[in-house]
Amino acid sequence: MALADLLSRKLVIVTGKGGVGKTTVTAAIARALAAAGRRVLVCEIVPTSETPSQVTHALGGPAPGEEPVRVEPNIDVVLLTPTMGHRRFLQDTLPLKVLADAAMRSQGLKRFLIAAPGFSDMGVLYRAVDFMRKPLWDTMVLDSPATGHALALAQIPEFLARVILKGPIARVAREGVATLTDPAITTAVVVTLPETLPVTEALELAKGLEKHRLPVTGVIVNRVPKDPFSADERAAVKKLVAHGSSVLGGRELSRIERSAAALQLLRERGGRQLFELEELEIRGPELSRELAVRLSSALPPSALR
Ligand SMILES: Nc1ncnc2c1ncn2[C@@H]1O[C@H](COP(=O)(O)OP(=O)(O)OP(=O)(O)O)[C@@H](O)[C@H]1O
Ligand SMILES: [Mg+2]
Repeated sequence: MALADLLSRKLVIVTGKGGVGKTTVTAAIARALAAAGRRVLVCEIVPTSETPSQVTHALGGPAPGEEPVRVEPNIDVVLLTPTMGHRRFLQDTLPLKVLADAAMRSQGLKRFLIAAPGFSDMGVLYRAVDFMRKPLWDTMVLDSPATGHALALAQIPEFLARVILKGPIARVAREGVATLTDPAITTAVVVTLPETLPVTEALELAKGLEKHRLPVTGVIVNRVPKDPFSADERAAVKKLVAHGSSVLGGRELSRIERSAAALQLLRERGGRQLFELEELEIRGPELSRELAVRLSSALPPSALR
């Protein structure tokens, strides 16, 4: 995958199955873009502002809140909650701020906005698009918590057609969806692990996103195991494994072979750009820093300021 593609977009959505490394990759992409001179806003979708931030583990720095905080030069982080999106939406559409405040104090309305299918995502989308309008950031990198989320955002047009057809909510949603589906503005990257099943699921997810007109740049295969064996060593270990010996290298060897097979599958079936990130022994901010170096090395020099 060419990172240059990400540099030209205003919104990069990082998606994929649970635990594949979305948050880590989000942090790494943010660092790589920041190093290329972009002012980056990392957005973390959370159900409530009390939800502990994953991004802060991956990026370090102060804990984010519902307003952006600076964690590194060129990198700010913000939590996107449905409630804040609803509040901002009401403030922007109702003629008086007191009305919006009163509306947000209404427990019934709050419960409705959270519970009605699609309205949570609309809140998140409203907030995201609101940040995009501000000239403070060149790129927003969105860490979506689970596979369903990016799809849910992409499915808002259908939800709209079913539920509401006109009025300010529909207008806002259409604007948001127009932003999400414009390939000049938005791109999604699908993160996966180098195993057959996750790869198959990642391809399905990419297809699903594209079906809903959300542009997909490519697939990031994360945690690709390093191959520590020379050709001779591999042959030796393979022989031992074939004889049923439980050698330490045996498990590693089969993992490496599974990974190679999964990558092969992606190349054959994917039809998309691939980028491999290796499995590293480090964690937290140090990990995202190292992975960012690898992403940056894929940048053409002309893309760097
Ligand atoms: N390239 C890598 N090398 C080693 N460890 C990694 C790598 N990428 C991610 N990890 C580790 O894998 C774990 C899961 O990563 P992460 O939290 O980024 O996944 P996620 O997809 O955001 O998970 P969730 O779906 O729960 O939000 C973390 O402990 C992280 O440190
Ligand atoms: Mg995560």
